Amino acid sequence: MQNTVKSICLEQPNKVGITQSPCPIKKNTDVLIKVEAMGICGSDIGAYRGTNPLVTYPRILGHEIVGMILESGIGMPDNIKVGDRVIIDPYVYCGHCYPCSIGRTNCCESLNVLGVHIDGAMQEIVRHPAHLIVKAPDMKIEELALAEPLTISLHAIHRTKVKAGEHVAIIGAGAIGLMAALVAKVYGAIPILIDILDKRLAYAKSIGIQHTINPSKENDIEVIKTMTKGRMAEVVIEASGANISIQNTLKYASFAGRIGLTGWPKTETPLPTNIITFKELDIYGARTSKGEFEEALELLYTRKINPEHIISRIIKFDEIPAYIKELSENPADYLKIIAVL
Ligand SMILES: NC(=O)c1ccc[n+]([C@@H]2O[C@H](COP(=O)([O-])OP(=O)(O)OC[C@H]3O[C@@H](n4cnc5c(N)ncnc54)[C@H](O)[C@@H]3O)[C@@H](O)[C@H]2O)c1
Ligand SMILES: [Zn+2]
Ligand SMILES: [Zn+2]
Repeated sequence: MQNTVKSICLEQPNKVGITQSPCPIKKNTDVLIKVEAMGICGSDIGAYRGTNPLVTYPRILGHEIVGMILESGIGMPDNIKVGDRVIIDPYVYCGHCYPCSIGRTNCCESLNVLGVHIDGAMQEIVRHPAHLIVKAPDMKIEELALAEPLTISLHAIHRTKVKAGEHVAIIGAGAIGLMAALVAKVYGAIPILIDILDKRLAYAKSIGIQHTINPSKENDIEVIKTMTKGRMAEVVIEASGANISIQNTLKYASFAGRIGLTGWPKTETPLPTNIITFKELDIYGARTSKGEFEEALELLYTRKINPEHIISRIIKFDEIPAYIKELSENPADYLKIIAVL
């Protein structure tokens, strides 16, 4: 096997390039994976800009990963063998802390997310805990790379227990919010997608999200009131990370409503907690995902969520540094960029 592998590394904020790093050495509980495709995520851009406080440098990026098993390891799922294509579950948990002990491994007290707390998998070959891989269905590698971000959207939908017939107001029409809206529709609910960019709302409409609101141009509360016959939204999902949007969740929610907070705000958000008590709202954090890869893959495989609707561009591995800069400068121009090796 080769001695070094190409990787996409952030030396420090605003400095990303291709480096040669030592070929990973695996433990007996790891698998070795030949990386084939990967998504570039908003969090990679946050790491590039130096705005993600969880990231330390230098850091190899990448957590939305598709690859092929080169070497097996103890704990590998029974349905996977060497040569199989897999998705990496990139949330490495300790297994001992309180949340891990109750099965909430996604909010492990010492969670290590690939490309954030520990080196990621934007490299030719990567090692990964053998138990944290999921068998991929037979579909295009670039489409499979959508599984991880789709689990984020699914987790918000599951945390807020979205049911058929309910109105789900979703703030943020980026990849996460848009896929949450598409999943809400698959569940028989009525998504209402809210964004300040007309371009993103028009796109969402073009792929079947009927109800959209631009709060910088319309009276968002009145529109939701009319749409819900005065009730307001039974579920609100925040997927923009804007402080004002987090505050708006309380306004958009019905009495006895549920709110899911997925967006990562950069700063603290003051909230009128009297509204939470008055409406008796349930507010759920939604961090990464847990046990949701199979459903994400099923949605993509059956094209209930059409991958072509989410992928804006497919690029080559060597183009990643240039596209990280491009995404940092023009984030609204792309939903999801996938690189193939
Ligand atoms: N909880 C998690 O584990 C997790 C995982 C991935 C992403 N995230 C977070 O989810 C959020 C969405 O991710 P994304 O990749 O879709 O991001 P994105 O930047 O592509 O999309 C965010 C959207 O929010 C819109 N927006 C910004 N301010 C707004 C406002 N005031 N009102 C309405 N809309 C507004 C933007 O126009 C944009 O379309 C981000 O905050 C990201 O950090 C969380
Ligand atoms: Zn991501
Ligand atoms: Zn833990």
